[in-house]
Amino acid sequence: MKIKKTNVALPAIHEMGRKIQQLSAETGQEYLFLQRGINSVVNIELNEVVKSIDFNSKEIQTYPPSQGRAELREAINNEYFGGKTDISCISICGGGMPGIDNAFQITDVRKIYLPVYHWGNYHNAMKIRKIEYAEYDSFESLNKIISDIKDCAVLLGDPGNPFGNKYDENEIFAMIKKLNDNGTVVFYDSPYRRVFYDKNDNFYQRLLDIDNLVILDSFSKSLGLSGQRLGFVHSKNAEFNHEMAVRLAFATNGTNAFAQILVEKLLTTEAGKKAVTDFKTTTVAEITKNIKYLKEAGFIANEFYHESVPIGIFAIVNVSEDVLLENRIGSVSLSKFTLSHKQEASKYSRVCVSVNHNKFVEFFENMKAKI
Ligand SMILES: Cc1ncc(COP(=O)(O)O)c(C=O)c1O
Repeated sequence: MKIKKTNVALPAIHEMGRKIQQLSAETGQEYLFLQRGINSVVNIELNEVVKSIDFNSKEIQTYPPSQGRAELREAINNEYFGGKTDISCISICGGGMPGIDNAFQITDVRKIYLPVYHWGNYHNAMKIRKIEYAEYDSFESLNKIISDIKDCAVLLGDPGNPFGNKYDENEIFAMIKKLNDNGTVVFYDSPYRRVFYDKNDNFYQRLLDIDNLVILDSFSKSLGLSGQRLGFVHSKNAEFNHEMAVRLAFATNGTNAFAQILVEKLLTTEAGKKAVTDFKTTTVAEITKNIKYLKEAGFIANEFYHESVPIGIFAIVNVSEDVLLENRIGSVSLSKFTLSHKQEASKYSRVCVSVNHNKFVEFFENMKAKI
């Protein structure tokens, strides 16, 4: 059998997870799993919400519409857009990743610009689809090349992965607007944003005036539901939405109905809203303490936070992946998040800060005593 090879490796994070599990089994010692990209302070409490779901209903036991259930899209409209968008602009996908992959394929641009330090899945998805990409350094560098990127797209994330950094809201809005006015498409991929915000966050509403924009979001982080594989894409462009529905229909036959109903209940019922609020409140409190600790203990790599501030769920520390591992802390080397700055990045690592604060401090203090 002949195979069409992509020559793309599986994500480094899986390899690190396997390595740590093996080391832990061999040594019998505890390891801190900070290589992962998930909130691990607490689980979202689903038992109450699940009681309101009728598993024998036709909604669960038949195919959902390819663009997603109208009830969930309406719930997203209310929760994320203040009820001000049209649900025809919202498509439900099996997580953030398929939304990103489809959006990259649908949008007809010459090249997609990624931040110099970015989540590797972006460029790997593009490699698989044979889409051209390039890197940009900062907003300033985008401003310098603005006239050359009219027929291109730019990806922005806020808070981003790997830095867990947040830009000033007005500054990022101005950048998006400038790119839009220039004719450059913006992919605004921010699945971490709603870990830190709730319904009162009106940023997506502000973005509704912007045409050359695709908003990409997911419930993997903000609701702790990475296992349910659910996300959404928003665009005001009718042709984009039609193409998205076509691709979802013929590549997936629709997105898991149970996951859609679960998220709808989390966003709309009293028990659901309570579960979400409890999950976020506990998670954000621990994230905030962990970042404060990293700053005070001198571990945070301040050099990466000039234009923005670390808020989580990740942070970059000035310790290499190897040294962290020697101290039983899993991480991902920053060199895995860049194509062009690999050598200088290897001194740093991305750690997940969304874990229990006491454990986090215990492991870092233990390392501090040794180095
Ligand atoms: C920056 C970024 N965007 C999107 C995603 C997609 O998440 P998922 O496919 O789990 O919904 C991730 C996941 O780690 C991410 O880090």
